[in-house]
Amino acid sequence: MGQYTKSAVKSYLCAMELLDGKLASKAIIDSLTLKVAQSKTEGKKIPHLAAVLVGNNGASETYVGAKVKTCAEIGFKSTLIRLEDDVTENRLLSVITDLNNDPDVDGILVQLPLPKHISDNNVINAIHPSKDVDGFHPVNVGKMVQGLPAFVSATPHGIMLLLEHYKIDTRGKHAIVIGRSNIVGRPMSILLSANTQPGNCTVTICHSHTHNLRELCLQGDIIVAALGRPEFVDASMVKPGAIIIDVGITRVPDTTKKSGFSLKGDVKFNEVAPHSSFITPVPGGVGPMTIAALMKNTFTACQERNDN
Ligand code: GUN
Repeated sequence: MGQYTKSAVKSYLCAMELLDGKLASKAIIDSLTLKVAQSKTEGKKIPHLAAVLVGNNGASETYVGAKVKTCAEIGFKSTLIRLEDDVTENRLLSVITDLNNDPDVDGILVQLPLPKHISDNNVINAIHPSKDVDGFHPVNVGKMVQGLPAFVSATPHGIMLLLEHYKIDTRGKHAIVIGRSNIVGRPMSILLSANTQPGNCTVTICHSHTHNLRELCLQGDIIVAALGRPEFVDASMVKPGAIIIDVGITRVPDTTKKSGFSLKGDVKFNEVAPHSSFITPVPGGVGPMTIAALMKNTFTACQERNDN
């Protein structure tokens, strides 16, 4: 229970609301579907996303599959390029050059992680910033840091859209971001501290070397758990009424499941939910929002490349 009394926790027991990423993402997907239908009737170009998948990592297969499926639902064109696990970095870079030069392709994503012999940075830097719908290229990261229009990494972008959907007033709140990855933690910390709504938070970013993590988390009005350790955040780390965003989605062996695994977030949901005012489930929270944000970025890329 940490430093909070049982009665303080109890007062939140009935107030918890689920941040339903399936619902919020559907609103975005539906709006994009309408826009694409309108583009079609106006004879405008249909957005085209090219996804590159290297090797056969099960989780990456699932994520890329979901992205391609969502493109089809919306009416986007998509191309999936599969490369063997032992593909050379040069071959992958030449695939990216071809996609950069293909006028029909609006957005390019290379699913991470990549095999160890390939440099993530070399691959990310090779994607043209105007097609970098993952928002990983230094040009887009730099613009995002400066508060300029940019493609923003889909997971933190999706979390901002989720907070916006539920009209959560984040102004002045203390956000604890656990994890400092380039994909989630670091951009999340920048977006939450920006002079925007959602935003205007005081942000503490925590990582594997952080001292007194539990005490810091207990100060959080918002906790974004993005460290990739199943059920790491427990009730003793959460202030009553905190807003909990769970980015984790780890496959944990589970013999009761046909697939042989179940998906676990970074938060002990059953234990933490009664302490929180809002919480994302896993699955069905941040995951669908990540895909919606990627689709939004792809639509924007198409508009910016073709409407001028
Ligand atoms: N791996 C984990 N998250 C992501 C993402 O948002 N984009 C890509 N390309 N790879 C990822």
